[in-house]
Order: sequence, then structure tokens, then C-alpha cells
Amino acid sequence: MKSIASAPGKIILFGEHFVVHGTKAILAAIDKRVTVTSSFTENKTIKVNSELGTIEVPMSSSHEEVESEFRPFVYLANKMINSNQNVNGLEITIDSDIPIGVGLGSSSACCVAAAASICGLFKELPSSGEMAQVWSRQIGDEKEEREKISGMSREAEETIFPDTSGADLMCCQFGGIIEYNGHNGVIVFSGSSGSVSYEISANILIVNSMIQHSTKRSVEKVRKFKENNEKRFSELCDLVNQLMEHYDKLGRRIGVLEDMIKNDITAIGLKMSENQKYLEEIQVSNDTLRDMISSLKEISLGTKITGAGDGGCIIALVKDENLDKVPALLGKDKECFSAKIDTKGVVWKIEK
Ligand code: PMV
Repeated sequence: MKSIASAPGKIILFGEHFVVHGTKAILAAIDKRVTVTSSFTENKTIKVNSELGTIEVPMSSSHEEVESEFRPFVYLANKMINSNQNVNGLEITIDSDIPIGVGLGSSSACCVAAAASICGLFKELPSSGEMAQVWSRQIGDEKEEREKISGMSREAEETIFPDTSGADLMCCQFGGIIEYNGHNGVIVFSGSSGSVSYEISANILIVNSMIQHSTKRSVEKVRKFKENNEKRFSELCDLVNQLMEHYDKLGRRIGVLEDMIKNDITAIGLKMSENQKYLEEIQVSNDTLRDMISSLKEISLGTKITGAGDGGCIIALVKDENLDKVPALLGKDKECFSAKIDTKGVVWKIEK
């Protein structure tokens, strides 16, 4: 028996870094996925296979004894083995088409897919499911499924990144466009569900600087910036929040979500570029990212870093008619693709 789960990667449209300090963030799941397959073995070991290598450790090993990239999987395996008797061994295989370490949610998607795959193997989830559907129904036991995957994936990610805001995990779990507010949870806006449709009808171009970054290091750097510039940092948090939500004189909410309802791609793009100014100010940009952003200036409605910065990827809103101009503007050493928004979130199934 195999338990297979897959979860999408993500981009952060607004609010990265500031979300760690209590602002909102808006994220979108993308059509690149990680798949985790788990099965029982007779080997008395926990074995993890990924493109980063293979490890096989005795069942009694703690996640702290393995290299950081394998910790979440060993943590989840341990947790389930310890609460279930008669398990002789476990094998976990990770296949991913999300580039690693460039801000597209590869580690969060791994944690979400692994939580669903391993919970499924231990029959703690129904034999198949799709999180976006669970969310739109929100009834009875299904709430427990949601909370189980949320809780387990967060614990898994905290083994490598204890300061996580949790925003990436929520996006990889639910799919669609989400507004994340660490204090009050998450609101999901999928293009297809509910009476209101949130749209971005331009290409979301993702450009990879090919420089891997460390989210932990960038988050630490921003924490220092905040300590040294408390007043300005707090103003920046207010400005970031205002991009997402503020009110006109008549008390009507206006912000980027309202732009998405109106499908006003010019307004969305302007707000993205405004958000980039705040990211520059907290010093998570660099010359390579600035050059990439400026190369796309003529054809982009708005461009910004997505994720931790200091490398990784930028995102740009580009109209169809300008898409074929992109390769010449960027040069050969960068990878780029146009992303579609994933609306399924994590999906899982058991195969006999
Ligand atoms: O790890 P990345 O590059 O996907 O970015 C994480 C986003 C941060 O806001 C920088 C950190 C967080 O936990 O939200």
C-alpha cells in the first residue's frame, strides 16, 4: 500500500517579511508541485529519498540527528510511529518540480505533502481528498482533517525554521489566492468558489535569479533592521497593510483584493511595485534582483521580489502581447516561466 500526496508551491504577492511581524500577506498557489509517497517496510528504518540524496536511519533516531533538509520527514515519521504499534519501517520518497531555495515554497509544500501522505498511510485521513473542496464544504470531521494537516505540517516546518509566519504552509495547503493573517487565521479566495471571483488576468511571470537564499538568514536580517529602526519599521508595516486593506471616505474597503474583484491589473501592478519599495528599504534586495526588475520595467505592470529575497525569484505582471519580449530583456542566465494559480491545494490518495 502506498499513500501519495501532492501540494503546490506558492508565490507571495504582498507582505513577505512584514507578515513575520504581524501584518497580513496575500499569497497564491502555483502550478508546480511536490509529491510525497510513503509506504511501510520491514526494514526497521526510516528511509527518505529525495533529489537531495537518500538517508536511512534506525526507527529510534530523532529528527535532530539528521541533516536539516531531512528533518521534517523524520519528525513526521517518528510522530506517527510513536503513536502506532506494530510498524516495522517506513519509506518516504519526494519528487518535486518546485525549484529549491528560491522562494517558491518548496520546503512548505514538502511539509504539507509529507504530513498528508504520512497521515494517510496511518489512516488518519479519508482514503482520498482535496483540501480546496474540504475548505469550501467545511463540515464536521473535515475540520479535523484540515487541522491535522495544518498542525502536523507546521510542526514539521518548525524543525528547520522555527520563526515561520505559517503563511507559506497555509497557501500550499489550501491552494488558490489566500489572505493570511497570523492572528486571525486564513481566508481563502479561490477563483472558482463563492459568489465573488478574485482574478488576475495578466501573466504572472516568475523569474529565477538562480541565486539560492536562506530564508532564516533574511528573516534574521530584517529582525535586526527592525530593532535599529523601530519607528520606520512600524510605519512600513502600516503601509504594507494599507496596500491590502484600507477604507475610503465612505467607509468602503479598498485594497488589492478589491482590485482583484474588479480585475484591475494596472492597480494590482502598481501596488506590487509599491511593495517592492518597502522590501528595498528593509534591505532584502540586491543588485541582481534590482537589475532583473529594471530590465522588465518597460513591459511589466508591476514587479517585486517574492519570498525572502537576497536572491530567489521576482514576480512580474505582464500582458499577453508582451510575453515574447521577456527572454531578450532578461538574458540567458535567468530561468523564467508564466505561472497559473493552483486551486486544489494539497490532494492525497491511497494506492493498493
Ligand atoms: O522561504 P521563502 O523565500 O518562501 O519566504 C518566506 C516568507 C517570509 O515572509 C520571508 C518568511 C515567513 O515565514 O513568512
